[in-house]
Amino acid sequence: MSFRVLVVGSRGRLGAALVRAWTQRGEAVRGLGREALDIRNEAALRAALDGWDFDVLVNCAALTNVDYCEGNPQEAFEVNARAVGVMAAVCAEKGRRCIHISTDYVFGGDQRRPYTEEDRAEPCSHYGRAKLAGEQLLLAASAAHLAVRVSWVFGPDRRSFLDQVLERACTQDRVEAVADKVAVPTSTLEAADLLHPLLAAVPAGGVVHLCNAGECTWQQYGQFALDCAERAGVGLRARVVEPVPMSAMKAFVARRPVYSAMATGKLTRLIGRAPRPWQEAVEEYVRGYWRRAQE
Ligand SMILES: NC(=O)c1ccc[n+]([C@@H]2O[C@H](COP(=O)([O-])OP(=O)(O)OC[C@H]3O[C@@H](n4cnc5c(N)ncnc54)[C@H](OP(=O)(O)O)[C@@H]3O)[C@@H](O)[C@H]2O)c1
Repeated sequence: MSFRVLVVGSRGRLGAALVRAWTQRGEAVRGLGREALDIRNEAALRAALDGWDFDVLVNCAALTNVDYCEGNPQEAFEVNARAVGVMAAVCAEKGRRCIHISTDYVFGGDQRRPYTEEDRAEPCSHYGRAKLAGEQLLLAASAAHLAVRVSWVFGPDRRSFLDQVLERACTQDRVEAVADKVAVPTSTLEAADLLHPLLAAVPAGGVVHLCNAGECTWQQYGQFALDCAERAGVGLRARVVEPVPMSAMKAFVARRPVYSAMATGKLTRLIGRAPRPWQEAVEEYVRGYWRRAQE
């Protein structure tokens, strides 16, 4: 059976990957990007959702710049919470499911073992608070809706930390990254694969964590990417990612959780498959997509 899927935020890093991957799998996928719709405009949002009889709406649209959100909490709330509530309500009215992408930044970061879906969400930034409010509005609209929390998203459709560290290592002698903040990278290509079974009404709804397996600091993540690039024969000027503490990041306006690795046991139980270790996904990206893009 083919699903009619409406992807909102289809020009973003994750949204673009979902549209491509699921179209290739034979689903009927339509994307709505910001150029077609500002999701803060409730009338326009309702009209757009009335325009096509989809089975599942997947919302990837979000204000994702954590520091911008800290300075613009009202806008962050409108995009990351209020608009999610509208999408969730329209889907519930139509009897359709809404899958909404959320974040590890709903957690406060005090824990030192991977967060499960049962752990208390206590965000420490306006971004995290708005995303948590979005989850709550989503789930209040229908118990069938699903909030999927991802973390440190990377992929070929928009640059991320991974691309920045590789580009810097190619052009600069010194590269550094934060070594006292832990999370888990999430490949958009793998996310498309892992999310696909959830288009069917597999779970009852609620919250599920989706990221690659394992955990790392930004410094370990960056170092591994440089090691992959070197193995792939990329000419690097810097081969080592120097560790720096988060306190040295003067440009950071918002507080970030120090630890926000997520456990994916629930996802594995739901779809019968575990995510790959983050190292495998990063190696595949660096050797394949990133290297090809440089040629
Ligand atoms: N990136 C990460 O590391 C990360 C980590 C944890 C969770 N997440 C979550 O994962 C999801 C996808 O993130 P991503 O990495 O794909 O982010 P992204 O590349 O920034 O994509 C978000 C998309 O939303 C669009 N958007 C922003 N405001 C909008 C508005 N008012 N109306 C319509 N569209 C709007 C953006 O438009 P423009 O194209 O104009 O920017 C962009 O295309 C988000 O829910 C995010 O919170 C991401």
